[in-house]
Amino acid sequence: MGFDTDTSINTSARLNHERFPELSTGPVPIEPYISEEFFARERDAIFRCMWLLAGRMEKIPNKGDYFVKTIEVLNTSIVIVRGQDEKVRAFYNVCRHRGTNIASGAGNCKFFTCKFHGWVYDTQGNIRHVADESQFFDLDKTKLNLHEVNCEVWNDFIFINVDENPRETLAEQLGEIGVQLQDFPFPEMRVAGNWGATLNANWKLFLDAFQEGYHVATVHSGTINEYFTGARNPYCRPSSVRLYKRNRSLSIPFNPEFKIHKSEEFAIRTGESLSQGVAGLTKKVPGVNPKNDEYFSFDVNAIFPNWLLDTSIGFFFIHEFWPIDASTTRWESTMYFPEPANAGALISQNQSIALLRDAFREDIATSEGSQAGIMSGSLKEINFADTEIPCRHLYEVVTKMVNGEW
Ligand code: FES
Ligand SMILES: [Fe+2]
Repeated sequence: MGFDTDTSINTSARLNHERFPELSTGPVPIEPYISEEFFARERDAIFRCMWLLAGRMEKIPNKGDYFVKTIEVLNTSIVIVRGQDEKVRAFYNVCRHRGTNIASGAGNCKFFTCKFHGWVYDTQGNIRHVADESQFFDLDKTKLNLHEVNCEVWNDFIFINVDENPRETLAEQLGEIGVQLQDFPFPEMRVAGNWGATLNANWKLFLDAFQEGYHVATVHSGTINEYFTGARNPYCRPSSVRLYKRNRSLSIPFNPEFKIHKSEEFAIRTGESLSQGVAGLTKKVPGVNPKNDEYFSFDVNAIFPNWLLDTSIGFFFIHEFWPIDASTTRWESTMYFPEPANAGALISQNQSIALLRDAFREDIATSEGSQAGIMSGSLKEINFADTEIPCRHLYEVVTKMVNGEW
């Protein structure tokens, strides 16, 4: 196999900045990654204004099903409920009496009963019972329904927006990525694995570890490195990058020279997997590999502000990065595969799940190391290469927004 015609991988030119010359190229200040004052501005300018991923519809298949989503950056939790009328709504998890949470965890109910003094709300948020009501003074019960939050659903992804008048519709915010992935086979997939951790790292720095391939040869030298790097692409450069207004997307190619182990090849050939490209099994899936890149493995779709929707041939996975403060973030990762058609497909899926789980552990460990170094006082700036342009794009978008540009 010869690769010398593939200039995007072998060139020394800095192609991404040639295509996106409006982005800066110089060092980046560390303030956005460590400053609590900057973090407070992010809360108001970004997280209080934008559509945030709350979960997936498979969590609430039936009338009365609900789950509570904790959103630390907004100092609150939100109840997402499928009402008795089948409509999905979101409410602040806050009782109108004295503020206690009206739900926790997940479950199914006809009514939410506050555990403090027993006020009762229905699944559409209406107040239904005030205990010992005669002891209150001129209660206006029309003002005692649960405080509703904007809630919209796209392809079974549930979003909330705490801005009373969102500046953009959900479709506008999803933008080009929403259009591209509109027909991805999400309905065929179900949860196949999930992980999470709370780490000492800024949410952007943590997210950055999952939106560049530059670290693959070093961080993942014991796990997934050789799937992606080799003579053709030693630094795991993306084969294509797309930067939008706030979202971004990149395609990661596999290493065509990689010789998979026999037992692994068996697993790969029996179903959907991260490695099927290596085994020569590729098929066209709607919304995936938008530039028809050679040796395609998977797309990283970064949806602003704080999550990644990574799509591949027959499966997808999500990373959510929930800020707690300037240097602490809660990470949730969920993998989705089709219902396995047989035992072979299950083996194949689990091979990918185990591989990615180990790689994710490596990614999160290095993020904490970066944060510690950035907070040490020895650095004023950090540097991003051309191939790390997704990290620079996130930094620039956030900086613009906290400075009042929409
Ligand atoms: S705080 Fe909910 S009933 Fe008192
Ligand atoms: Fe990684």
